[in-house]
Amino acid sequence: MKEKLLQYLRCPSCAGTIQLTETTSCDGLEIIGGTLECAQCGSGFPILRGIPRFASLSEVEKEKVATAENFGWQWRHFTQADELYREQFLGWIAPVKPEFFKDKVVLEGGCGKGRHTELAAMWGAREVIGIDLSEAVETAFANTRDLENAHVIQADIYNLPLARVFDYAFSIGVLHHLPDPRGGFLSLASKVKEGGHLSAWVYGAENNEWLIKWLNPVRERVTSKMSKRRLLTTSKLPTALVYAVTKLVYGPLNRSVLGAKVAQKLPYNDYLNAISRFGWREQHTIVFDHLVAPTSHYIPREDFESWWQQVGATEVVIGWHNKNSWRGFGRV
Ligand SMILES: C[S@@+](CC[C@H](N)C(=O)[O-])C[C@H]1O[C@@H](n2cnc3c(N)ncnc32)[C@H](O)[C@@H]1O
Ligand SMILES: [Zn+2]
Repeated sequence: MKEKLLQYLRCPSCAGTIQLTETTSCDGLEIIGGTLECAQCGSGFPILRGIPRFASLSEVEKEKVATAENFGWQWRHFTQADELYREQFLGWIAPVKPEFFKDKVVLEGGCGKGRHTELAAMWGAREVIGIDLSEAVETAFANTRDLENAHVIQADIYNLPLARVFDYAFSIGVLHHLPDPRGGFLSLASKVKEGGHLSAWVYGAENNEWLIKWLNPVRERVTSKMSKRRLLTTSKLPTALVYAVTKLVYGPLNRSVLGAKVAQKLPYNDYLNAISRFGWREQHTIVFDHLVAPTSHYIPREDFESWWQQVGATEVVIGWHNKNSWRGFGRV
């Protein structure tokens, strides 16, 4: 943890300021071990392996634990970087462009392995803070510790240990895995200062009827409960199918003028064409990600719109992403 993070921290119980009361080890600018304490109520929070810990899986509510455990395992295993992340991220946060990040104080809700926290930092944000409830923070910290404007915190999105100072907050692929997606959105929005901006990307209910009907029950009852090693092996079979159809059918068809017209009629064309450019490991990550989540909500556009209304957002732009999910951007 870099000491300059302190100015953004607030006690999750009483909103008091947070002080560094003990440092047990350092590595350059990073405080690797130590203790943080609330100046108001005295609650203590450890810094372990360079990460301030405001939540622990042994203390959060049961319905959040399985999700965090499963994704924690995922992001400690699939630690790879991919040059297509940049474009993919811009697709999820459109109409935001890299220049938008310049000099902004940015919050990422559910940063996973830190790939987007890293991009935001590289695009010139003043500071970026990525929070995640799971062990994914270990990978996120390893991936971003060399960036002097990037910070990683272990925390629950519903109980953020942060002041309301952010120019921009975003959350990609997280809210729909929460027990109460709207609650997570409201909590994230509550940290954006007046006039700041917010982006969110969630699974859509529209065009995903068969996933909701067929995949969701299998995921809830079977695949999310498997041992992760077993799921890692089992998920290679559906990955092989996705790999074959994207590399042999969707990708080539969409790249040819005549084929593109045919491809438009194929199911999930936008989505499968988008992932056709990824190699095996990234596609395996995507398939594993779909199978590992114990909770997945598919959000109707109308509900998603009402989240933005509830936070009083203006200049809201909501749009389809790959015709199977919703992305939103607005001023709050
Ligand atoms: C599908 S991953 C997406 C990660 C990242 N946004 C990305 O796109 O690479 C969902 C993430 O949400 C995190 N998460 C789940 N519940 C959370 C909670 N209550 N608070 C904070 N993070 C949570 C998981 O640990 C996981 O890293
Ligand atoms: Zn306190």
